[in-house]
Amino acid sequence: MSSITSDMAQQYSDSQKLAARARINSKYTIAEVGWFPWVANQLPIRSGDRVLDIGCGPGWFWAVTAGIWPEDLNLTLADFSPGMVQEALDRCRALPFGSVQGQEADASALPFEDGFFDAVIAMHMLYHLPDPAKGISEMYRVLKPGGFLAVTTNGAGNMRKMYELTAVFGSPPSDPAALAFDFDTAERLMRSQFSDVTMAQHPARLRITEPEDVFLALTSYPPGDGASEPQLAEFRNAIARAFKQGNGILEVEKEAGLFLSRKSVSP
Ligand SMILES: C[S@@+](CC[C@H](N)C(=O)[O-])C[C@H]1O[C@@H](n2cnc3c(N)ncnc32)[C@H](O)[C@@H]1O
Repeated sequence: MSSITSDMAQQYSDSQKLAARARINSKYTIAEVGWFPWVANQLPIRSGDRVLDIGCGPGWFWAVTAGIWPEDLNLTLADFSPGMVQEALDRCRALPFGSVQGQEADASALPFEDGFFDAVIAMHMLYHLPDPAKGISEMYRVLKPGGFLAVTTNGAGNMRKMYELTAVFGSPPSDPAALAFDFDTAERLMRSQFSDVTMAQHPARLRITEPEDVFLALTSYPPGDGASEPQLAEFRNAIARAFKQGNGILEVEKEAGLFLSRKSVSP
């Protein structure tokens, strides 16, 4: 397989490649409320909760939203990549939480006891798992009865006008994350474990003004990151044509959503 969902050790040894894609969102999103605050506002986290962030990446979510949480929150930052765990810890240890711990962990086999957490958060990470259903059942297992799971992912139409440009590399014209785990898959797999699942889509779009940011984002993962010079030249031309068509601007629709489920109290 050659896409955003493969070659994890190389992709996520640190946050550099992820940052190239995140820059597109942070620089160009047009939304009333930004993505991380929008997600945070919907999480029913209470004082004293034990919270697991699995696939935490560099901990950006907590740094952006730090001011809104109860000060006695006990946060476990877990990721497959030791580099990401370290970066998340470095970023979050100084923030006003009750406790912050780091843990290298595979979401498919979580190294935690049954019923340990009040909340599990898995943001834009389940599409990396060979079997996302296994990851969701692990998240269910480590939740207390009454605890909640929050999952985020992208919809099948996410940023299509941008991903269409990767046809130059022979890639499908779609967000590779959504190809692996889109809204429909997220809902179906969560319903197979949880009785109540609610979904909300972040109202947002992109207005991209710098062609180079598109180039860097789409060559931050396979196959673009290993493309030949002639392919890269052709890719730059395709990007330039798309910007020219939009009079210097690439307007792109976003589809990012939050799925919330609660583990029932009775078995
Ligand atoms: C796209 S990043 C998302 C980071 C963060 N959750 C966010 O939304 O900003 C995906 C993260 O999932 C991690 N990851 C991938 N496969 C994993 C697995 N099997 N178990 C735990 N983490 C994994 C990667 O190392 C990476 O940090």
